[in-house]
Order: sequence, then C-alpha cells, then structure tokens
Amino acid sequence: MQNAQPLVKTANALVAPGKGILAADESTSTIGARFAALGVENVERNRRDYREMLVSAAGASEFISGVILYDETLRQNCADGTPFVELLEERGIIPGIKVDTRAHPLAGAPGEVVTEGLDGLRDRMAEYYEIGARFAKWRAVIAIGPHLPSSYCIEVNAHALARYAALAQEAGLVPIIEPEVLMDGDHGIDRCYDVTQDALREVYSQLAAQRVMLEGTLLKCNMVLSGKEASNRAEQEEVAERTVDCLMRNVPAAVPGIAFLSGGQGDDEATDNLRTINIRGKEVGAPWQLTFSFARALQSTPLQIWAANGGAPLPAQKAFYHRASQTAAARNAA
Ligand code: 13P
Repeated sequence: MQNAQPLVKTANALVAPGKGILAADESTSTIGARFAALGVENVERNRRDYREMLVSAAGASEFISGVILYDETLRQNCADGTPFVELLEERGIIPGIKVDTRAHPLAGAPGEVVTEGLDGLRDRMAEYYEIGARFAKWRAVIAIGPHLPSSYCIEVNAHALARYAALAQEAGLVPIIEPEVLMDGDHGIDRCYDVTQDALREVYSQLAAQRVMLEGTLLKCNMVLSGKEASNRAEQEEVAERTVDCLMRNVPAAVPGIAFLSGGQGDDEATDNLRTINIRGKEVGAPWQLTFSFARALQSTPLQIWAANGGAPLPAQKAFYHRASQTAAARNAA
C-alpha cells in the first residue's frame, strides 16, 4: 500500500466521537420498494429529491460523519446543479460508495447467498476515488435457519470481503467490512451470538491472510439479538452484554471503530440498543468507537413524512435531524 495515513485518518474521522454514518446506498430496486409502499414513483428525480432532502438537512452534519451512496447518487447533481459529492464536502461530510453488486444464490448451498462484485472492482474503485468517494462498503449476508449458515457460506463471503477490502485500500478508500447476520427467524440470542462469532473469526482470519491494514478499516455488523420472530426476545441489557462480549472476543483492537447496522429493528429499538451497548462498552474498556451506520432506523420516519407531504423537504428534514441527534446521543452514552 502506498500511503496508509489518509486511510487511517478517514477511518477515524468516520467514527469520530459524537458522529456516525448514514447509509443511503439503497439500490434502485430497494429504494423503489420503499417508495412503492408510500405511493412514491421510483424515478430518478424522486430518488434525487429524497436523498437531497437528507443530505441537505440543516444541522445534520453535527451528527453525520459520512454518507454511503449508491452509484447513481455519487454521479448525480442536486436540483440546483451542485454535484452531491460537492454538497457533502461543503458540509464536512465524507462521501462513501457501495461497491458490491448484491448477494446472489450460492451454488450448491440452497437458501444461502454470496455477495458478488469483484470483477472489474479495481477499476470501478479507482473511478469512485476520482469522483470523490473516500470510503466504500461491501455487505455479506448470512441467514440463520435450522441448518444454516454453512461454514462454506461464511468462508466464501469472508474471502470476498477481504478481497474487496484489500482492493479498496489500494484505491485509497477505507473499506467498511459488513458481514450481516440477519435477524429473520425465531432463533434465540445464543444462536445469533454463535453465528456472529463464527462470521467475525473467519472475516478477521481472511483479512489477515489478505494483508489488509486493520487501522484503515471499519467493521459494520449486526447487534447480537434474538430473531425477529423469537417468542421471548432478549432485553436491551442482555443484547448489550452479548454484543460487546462477542466483539471483545473476536474483533482486533487495531480496528478504529464498529458501526452497527439497524437490520430491521424499530427506530427506538436500534437507538436504545446502541445506547446500552455504548454504556457496556465503556464499562469493559472496549478499545473501539461504537457507533451507527443505520439506513432504516434513520430514514423510515423522515421518508414517511417526506412522502406524506408530497416531497416538501422541511418537515422530513426536521424528523431526520431529530433521529440523527437521538442516535448520536445514544452513541455517546457513558
Ligand atoms: P439498515 O440499517 O437498514 O439495516 O441498513 C444498513 C445497511 O447499510 C445495510 O447494508
């Protein structure tokens, strides 16, 4: 790697105290599904207006260090012609880019998926750097079921995450490494703990084998939770204890920060868990910043308000500011 310093600086800026990341990198089909539920047409102009509403919200940059964008938005201009990247830079927010090309069925493993996107990735990331991105994201998806996940699924996904991470660092982009263990299912919290642990062990083994410099990376992972349909879901205190314990055992101290995904938790549930996790992390002397990289838990309410007000930005921006301030306060809890 040519120069590690900018990567370390960016990674630390993304998880700076009081701040976290907004994930606004929904693919065109994912944002389309969210729009459709609210009667909004999935056309480029609406996608632009909605995302412009978010990133231009007054005061949001007090809490948001970086925004993960989808390819379309990274190349897009705001309504007044200013490139999105320029607007973010003016506001002191670091532009990031989702670079995987989604999870696809994994051959020979019914019900499991592997994230693709390595072909041509070196050139794509060089271009993203030129456009102004300074960090990247790749999401691996691991489902829990009666016989899932297989070690095969965990291994191939971790291998791909490490290949991506090494290429991202070569391109000057901080890789956000995201092995997401899904909360779908009726499993208990112990099962989520075990699967998250298996995934993290394999990921850090692959990152070491593939010479990734951990100081210039961030981990984005799930909280350790009971399945969404579990009969007796674990309470906040247990979630915090199990999450921090799992991370302490499996994530090297060289990693500057861990930014949680919200994963389908309600807005308040995700925020409350983040608060308790931070309190627990401080109690046990966790060596990393523990912050957020939420999509749904930051966006659901503002999106509903935006749609209900015919795309008027102000009411939705107030809601976004409120959610971002609550989440940042939780991330600072001691
Ligand atoms: P959620 O917070 O909605 O889980 O999304 C985070 C994300 O970026 C998933 O890759």
